[in-house]
Amino acid sequence: MSARIDLGAVEEFEEGVLQVRQASSRQIGVARWKDRFYALRNICPHQSAPLCAGRLLTGISDGEPVGVIEADDGAPVVTCPWHGWEFHLDTGKSLWDERYKVRAYQVVVENGRVLLEMGR
Ligand code: FES
Repeated sequence: MSARIDLGAVEEFEEGVLQVRQASSRQIGVARWKDRFYALRNICPHQSAPLCAGRLLTGISDGEPVGVIEADDGAPVVTCPWHGWEFHLDTGKSLWDERYKVRAYQVVVENGRVLLEMGR
């Protein structure tokens, strides 16, 4: 069973800015990107830095042919402030090794409120 936690009104979240909110006992980084919302646990899986104090960037994806890397506007990443590891906001997976992963949460918007799904 999942629980929802109200993180605030949609207009409290500026486009392209990662904000840290308290959700129950956890600190969660919440970002609005191209009018979609993302949420990540604020702990880096490397050495437990406050990950969401890092910078938000446009993601990259492997292009064609092999070895070509292209900007991917639809998939933002966060860069850890301590050692620069990068994580996809939608999956929480590290860009360079998917075995390293931060907890990502589903976010829904209802009646102008941003709601975190804790049960996913
Ligand atoms: S603590 Fe985040 S990359 Fe090292």
